[in-house]
Amino acid sequence: MEHTFALSDGLITCDIAGPRDAPITLVLLHGFPHDRTLWREQLAAHATAFSDTRIVALDLPGFGGSTPPRVATMDAYADAVAAAIDAVEARRVVLAGLSMGGYIALACWRRFAHKISALILLDTKATADTDAARTKRTELIAETHTAGVAASVAGLLPGQLGRTTRAEHPALVAQVDAMLRRTPLAGVVHAAAAMRDRPDSTTTLETITVPTLIVVGEDDVLTPPGDSHAMAALIPRARVVTIADAGHLTVLEQPIAVNAAIAEFLDIALPADA
Ligand code: MLT
Repeated sequence: MEHTFALSDGLITCDIAGPRDAPITLVLLHGFPHDRTLWREQLAAHATAFSDTRIVALDLPGFGGSTPPRVATMDAYADAVAAAIDAVEARRVVLAGLSMGGYIALACWRRFAHKISALILLDTKATADTDAARTKRTELIAETHTAGVAASVAGLLPGQLGRTTRAEHPALVAQVDAMLRRTPLAGVVHAAAAMRDRPDSTTTLETITVPTLIVVGEDDVLTPPGDSHAMAALIPRARVVTIADAGHLTVLEQPIAVNAAIAEFLDIALPADA
């Protein structure tokens, strides 16, 4: 069900599924340039795979129905996530972020680890942008201003989905294309600038004391499995699950496998009687 919260510096829209008194709240942070519909298969499974869990899928500031951040930094997104967690009165928060959502989840850990009981990092990495990647972000921002979102994000589509999905699931390819194209201009330019300027989070990894699940599509070309294994080597309580026949958007491409991995992780990391 859709909810909108007025936070101190803007509106945040989210979908919430599952009972309010569930012992665990799974807070989901989408990537770039996505919105909360990225998580539709996890929301749909709230009564089956995630029956003891409340699921909160946010539109990050500037995406979907949420208003843009005042400042384009990972910390600003993280602070919006903290405010949303408070607004939904989430308890025992499992914070899950895909790609840019993972960058934000690591910023959340730095800023308010005490609110986080477990982490799920999907198709993401801890390293900062290279100089070449920073240049591309600046070009993307300029193109978005001059040519519009649909033109500037068109080149991002091939990297989003694995080869199996692109060959066999044209309807999903079309849905992801539509999600990219409907991103508000402010969402694209703020997030591209924040990602370009984000710090390296490698030293954050060894400070993560909570159980951590790392999920990656075996055909993810944007954040390949090597990035996931590099993170797992530094996080004390991490395990990696590699998803077959999936690229960057594992949660949409192979939802049954991803949901099973998350459900198993929640059972082991946060057992109901603990
Ligand atoms: C994402 O999916 O969030 C992007 O691939 C992240 C990025 O551009 O670094």
